[in-house]
Amino acid sequence: MSTRMPAYRLLIKSAKQVVQVTNNGSRMLYGIDMSRVAVLESSTSQGFSIVVDNDGIIVDIDTDDVIMKKYREETFQNVIEATGKSVIPGLVDGHTHPVWAGDRVHEFEMKLAGATYMEVHDAGGGIHFTVNHTCEATEDKLHTLFQSRLKAMARAGTTLVECKSGYGLDTENEMKMLRVIDRGKKLGGIDISSTYCGAHAIPKNKTASEATKDVLENQIPAIKSQIDDQNLSVDNIDVFCEKGVFDVQQSRDILNAGKQIGLNINFHGDELNPLGSAEMGAEIGATAISHLEEISDNGILAMARSKTIAVILPTTAYILRLKPPPVRQMIDTGVPVALGSDFNPNAYCLSMPTVMHLACVNLKMSMSEALCAATINSAASLGRSDTHGSIEKGKLANLVIIDSPKWQHIIYELGCHSEIISYVIWHGEVVHSKRTLNTSIL
Ligand code: NIG
Ligand code: FE
Repeated sequence: MSTRMPAYRLLIKSAKQVVQVTNNGSRMLYGIDMSRVAVLESSTSQGFSIVVDNDGIIVDIDTDDVIMKKYREETFQNVIEATGKSVIPGLVDGHTHPVWAGDRVHEFEMKLAGATYMEVHDAGGGIHFTVNHTCEATEDKLHTLFQSRLKAMARAGTTLVECKSGYGLDTENEMKMLRVIDRGKKLGGIDISSTYCGAHAIPKNKTASEATKDVLENQIPAIKSQIDDQNLSVDNIDVFCEKGVFDVQQSRDILNAGKQIGLNINFHGDELNPLGSAEMGAEIGATAISHLEEISDNGILAMARSKTIAVILPTTAYILRLKPPPVRQMIDTGVPVALGSDFNPNAYCLSMPTVMHLACVNLKMSMSEALCAATINSAASLGRSDTHGSIEKGKLANLVIIDSPKWQHIIYELGCHSEIISYVIWHGEVVHSKRTLNTSIL
């Protein structure tokens, strides 16, 4: 008996809506275009089909009858019947700290009782608490914790996620974290963009300038040699540019050194104090800057001009009861806005549907803007919008199939992603389905 490989990996047929987000090859959307996501919607009983090849690439999108004239169903390895359902691009989480041991539920209690983030941090808690536990943990333990978090993200529809180091703060432990992220990349089931964030806090035994020197003279060269020897792959460089952490000049030096070794600049700025991080980031060619709760008007103008992507983290302002970032002003001025969960022991959220909901209610984004921010624009913040973030021919088939004819239900139904998501598809393979309550591959 011959066992011929099917010609195609996946056919999704009869979807009521296919939310392409963009259909003209745009690599990011800004201004009014964020509120006009491209949707294919059928008005008749016949719907839309998507064809995925054996490399996991979308090769065709059209009405059911056109697709069925061109392809035979038996040439597909898998067929998903999507009658009454909608399809959106796989969600892209633009900012997470997912490799750590030791939770901080006790600090959540302190913060609920009124302590600020910096009060907890200065008392030796916060990032320092997590650094102690993460330095003590073995690589295998961190891998196990990381893998279960990746699975939870995948179940919530994330198919590409940015993952930072930053709870090591010395060469050995930062490398350990980056190796754990690299192991995650090899698991499959979710795509990962990795970020070196050795300048996430000032280690207990150092001043800020000593820590900067250590990053510049020890950590970055060590990472470069691991990358050169192909033992490690790292995509981005990050610092926590903040009063009492790394100042603007120290941040600039570290980010430029990362750029010199080929990393994309993607950093924490203007979160708790208006330092001019946005202006500095725009000037040095940052791909993205996160947080920006305290961005200035000039910072907004600078980012709009340089098309530096603002990675907005609605969970942070929500949990810390901060003033929310001025997202409306950013969008109206032409800053491309993306979203991230900021998953970390301070803000424990793995769900991008929840993040989009918070962005709409607390930051006054429309649902279309939130989806655009959580797909094409967050892919752009990672330099991946040529392959990710929209449903277009030639892009990877990272998709979420929603159990509703209207895609907006994934945002509207707060806390219900396990109910509303029928399938999560990564490179044309089903990595999660509601029917089997099973998350495979990872
Ligand atoms: O993005 N602001 C700095 N970094 C993280 C928090 C990390 C932590 O508290 O462990 C953030 O919110
Ligand atoms: Fe962060």
